[in-house]
Amino acid sequence: MSKQFILYEYKKQTAQEISDKAAKLRTLMSKRRSVRHFSEKEVHKDVITDLIMAAASAPSGANKQPWTFCAISDPSIKKQIREAAEKEEYINYNGRMSEEWLGDLHPLGTDWQKEFLELAPWLIVIFKKSYDIHDHSQKKNYYVSESVGIAAGFFISCVHQAGLATLTHTPSPMNFLTKILGRPENEKPFLLLPVGYPEEGALVPDIARKKEEEVISWYIGK
Ligand SMILES: Cc1cc2nc3c(=O)[nH]c(=O)nc-3n(C[C@H](O)[C@H](O)[C@H](O)COP(=O)(O)O)c2cc1C
Repeated sequence: MSKQFILYEYKKQTAQEISDKAAKLRTLMSKRRSVRHFSEKEVHKDVITDLIMAAASAPSGANKQPWTFCAISDPSIKKQIREAAEKEEYINYNGRMSEEWLGDLHPLGTDWQKEFLELAPWLIVIFKKSYDIHDHSQKKNYYVSESVGIAAGFFISCVHQAGLATLTHTPSPMNFLTKILGRPENEKPFLLLPVGYPEEGALVPDIARKKEEEVISWYIGK
């Protein structure tokens, strides 16, 4: 058998404690919103390290942890990213996106301009590694998109729980990020997430979340 150890930090909790925590988490997470207006207030690098390492505790196919998180606060790199993202987004909003897509985006009030990419103190770019390179040879990774998606979800959740804000941004195509950040060829940009404090009085679109019965299908035995 492989080497194993006891899940030593598991603390026994009553059903009531768990129920209270689940209800609190539901309320807390329901308050998470994608923020597109950031304050320029600084966030310490240690906070970003902790949030990224919390995200990097996510499960992954065969424990390959197929991700790299690039954390950018350098204003000149943020400027390059904003300019390149706006270039792609201008094309997207002026012909590359279908009418249906533009219609779906309309309630969000978004456009090609991405000021937040310079204003937010940090930009986190998550790269997915379709394979790893060890001793000049390629090593397979498994369920890469699922694994990196889960890590991204952890990150978004932790940013929110820490009291900061983020936006899941996908200025497609995102190849410019590989170039600007000089990433190796086995890494592909997955998501671009500005992180910081929301601007005072930041507005968010008035959109509804699906109801319990639209989200959950129960299969309960008698
Ligand atoms: C995979 C993914 C890509 C997204 N891309 C963008 C984007 O490029 N620009 C943007 O403004 N919002 C983007 N969003 C944010 C969604 O618009 C937002 O999550 C959705 O409207 C729900 O709002 P909420 O996050 O405030 O609950 C993206 C979200 C996801 C999950």
